[in-house]
Amino acid sequence: METVRGESCSQPSEDDSQPEDSLSVTDVSVEVATVDAMLNKLCKKYSRRRRRAKKLKKKKKQRLSLQNMVLLITVVVFIVVVIMWALLWVFTFRRESNSGVYFAGTFRVANVEFIPEYRHADSSEFVSMANQIQHVVSKVYRTSSISKLYKHTVISDLSNNDKGGVLVYFWMIFEVPRLKTPTVCEECVSAILRDSVLTSLKNRSSVGFLLDLPVDIDSILINVALRSDYTLTASGSECVDKLYAGLPGVKVPLNVFSSWGGLSCHMKLTSAPGSIIRLTVNSLNIEPSDCIYDALTVYDALLPMRAKTLHSLCESVRVPVSLVSTSNVMLLFFRLAQGNKSFRGFFQAVPEEECLSVTEIPAAAGEAGEITSPFHPSLLPPLCSCTWRLQTQSSSLGVALKFQNYILSPKDLTPCKQGWWKINEVIYCGSYVSHVTVFRVLESSVEVVFRCSSRSAEQPFSATYSSFNISQPCPEGHFLCSTGLCVKKERRCDGIDDCQDESDEVFCSKPVKNCGDSSPLHPLYVCNGEKDCPNGRDESNCTQETWCSGIWYQCSSGSCILKKNAKCDGEPDCLDRSDESDCDCGHPMPIKRVIDTAAPQERVVGGVNAVEGEWPWQVSLHFSGHLYCGASVITSEWLISAAHCFSKDRLSDPRQWMAHLGMLTQGSAKHVAEIRRIMVHEYYNARNFDYDIALLQLRKPWPSSLAPFIQPVCLPATSQTLTESHRCWVTGWGYRSEQDKVLPTVLQKAEVSVLSQSECKRAYGPVSPRMLCAGVSSGEQDACRGDSGGPLSCRSSESGRWFLTGIVSWGSGCGRPNFPGVYTRVAKFIGWINSHIYN
Ligand code: ARG
Repeated sequence: METVRGESCSQPSEDDSQPEDSLSVTDVSVEVATVDAMLNKLCKKYSRRRRRAKKLKKKKKQRLSLQNMVLLITVVVFIVVVIMWALLWVFTFRRESNSGVYFAGTFRVANVEFIPEYRHADSSEFVSMANQIQHVVSKVYRTSSISKLYKHTVISDLSNNDKGGVLVYFWMIFEVPRLKTPTVCEECVSAILRDSVLTSLKNRSSVGFLLDLPVDIDSILINVALRSDYTLTASGSECVDKLYAGLPGVKVPLNVFSSWGGLSCHMKLTSAPGSIIRLTVNSLNIEPSDCIYDALTVYDALLPMRAKTLHSLCESVRVPVSLVSTSNVMLLFFRLAQGNKSFRGFFQAVPEEECLSVTEIPAAAGEAGEITSPFHPSLLPPLCSCTWRLQTQSSSLGVALKFQNYILSPKDLTPCKQGWWKINEVIYCGSYVSHVTVFRVLESSVEVVFRCSSRSAEQPFSATYSSFNISQPCPEGHFLCSTGLCVKKERRCDGIDDCQDESDEVFCSKPVKNCGDSSPLHPLYVCNGEKDCPNGRDESNCTQETWCSGIWYQCSSGSCILKKNAKCDGEPDCLDRSDESDCDCGHPMPIKRVIDTAAPQERVVGGVNAVEGEWPWQVSLHFSGHLYCGASVITSEWLISAAHCFSKDRLSDPRQWMAHLGMLTQGSAKHVAEIRRIMVHEYYNARNFDYDIALLQLRKPWPSSLAPFIQPVCLPATSQTLTESHRCWVTGWGYRSEQDKVLPTVLQKAEVSVLSQSECKRAYGPVSPRMLCAGVSSGEQDACRGDSGGPLSCRSSESGRWFLTGIVSWGSGCGRPNFPGVYTRVAKFIGWINSHIYN
């Protein structure tokens, strides 16, 4: 195209002349002789220049229009986006960012007489009373600082109570933009109601006026609730039953069945004022899921209020359990997911128990009687008060209280969680333990005051009382344990924890061996796997049957043999060979050669990188996506860890946890498993870490095809003793020093030695028999934060198998000299573990 136009030199257009003014006659006149050629040349030159100029101009024009186009399109797109965003915000986000916040509340309206019609929400009496109360509450919130967010109040129930008047249960709904949620916090909402009650200082009563309504300010309780609870109970759900127990003692049957489809139901139980309600669960058949899918929750109120939760049953119940309310109302909430589920039980009105007694203890030795927790054997309610007065026959006789599974310790600054006690003016806190204790009062006249102090229902307790000689509490030839028990003097330093707190086994010099033929050998040396006597007498006849106690190995048949480490040692020792069954454990097959020395690799608190397949039972537990604790595989479905990893509210939700199995480097697990339920030991004590053990059930067993990478560790026998031939290692992805800020990515291992209990006590003072210390004196090899719940694995060169001797529990700092790591002593929990995993 260009060429066609450019060649026509003869007819220049008007505008062609302007740009090339420099083409003057002077140029032409120089070569007269060749004027034609010259003209041609000039013409070509001229037209070339003209073309170039035109091209430039065109390009300029094109560029200009392209720019304009782009600008225009950008502006249009921008406007469209803005409009769309605005529309979206108005119609979707704005609506979504407003959310309903639900509260369940209660208070007592005084000076109003309760009439039976109030029990029926459709009676005109209920409606008129409810309207009055609703009006008052609405007025309070409509004139409050959060009036714009307040939606409405629904009065759900009216009940009578001992204090007189009417107890009102209500729902309150607020609609809150997401950003403002904190302004309708639980405390804020209850503070508004409380501050609106005008009380008079003059008559010192807790009843004041909420506008014109006489309200007991102390009875106000407001809890955040779930929207689903509100819709279930308030908006005319079919699954709300109201039952009344009129006559004291008469059993009102309760039966619930659900087949397919599942069900969520509330049962509101009430009885006459002055009585309380006892619920007996004869059987509950549900799927265990930590109360996530199936649950029976019992409330000490008529609405599902968090602070009024009495008890939650998350597993099937086969042996009947009963529990009591603190007043004449109780709410049962069944949540049963699909499947055949059932509940059988009854409730009854029972009188409040008078927990008061005065007793004379006869001088004769032996148990004289029993005190029990109120409503025993029902669970202990959160509110109770008992006073027992005990008197012995002479001033030289004191009072001994023997508890089966409960211990009293002097109260410190923290509140008592499992019972408050005042014994002759000294205050103690009670806690549950798995052994017998005796509390001795060195006075002849004793006043025991007990108050329930837990937030929900607790295990019941009982104690037998007897008198004892103050100057000599234990009979002749006996030793007084710190637990108050008396044990035979010969039992002291015999290697057996007779006192239950090892007080008979501390400060013991090494016992004499008695290797000579005639005298009996000390039990510590008998068949412990080590040759203690030169003549080998201590290690002979080890399969011989003996009396059963924790120190000897117990075969499945029930009989006991002398060999302490008979379990999975490769030799059948029990007649029934049960010691060699279930031994598919503790035999790792490291993929690379294992380097035993802590030299060349990355240093940790005395540890080194582990290799693939070396600790196939090691688990990394992740909470909300982050490493939080360790655990060990003990079966294809169960892991074992420390209770303290799950002790706080949020941490006890199994859905938040993931178990990474068969992993060496973080992020490269061979299998990631969901957790079905977490079973924390019922006696776990968050103050001193006693009973720091928990079991975790996986949703699905890990695939057996991953066997070389994932394998269970062997559980020790109760009788396990550690010998010179044992080597123990702690493993985990925890911090490498106390100050460390980054977690290692590769699994770390450090060798530690197990210390005697006396050495452990020397470092830490009182440690329970369920704890075990391990470390090195320099402190350099230790576990640290993040390792908790992980294994302390020990292997004897004889059996060649690894046993889970400990679970990382606590310690003073990490890697400090003379402060070993403290581990949960797994051998003490074999019965507990088996009862849960083989149930
Ligand atoms: N409690 C720690 C954790 O949560 C473990 C502490 C172990 N400390 C020690 N020095 N061994 O991970």
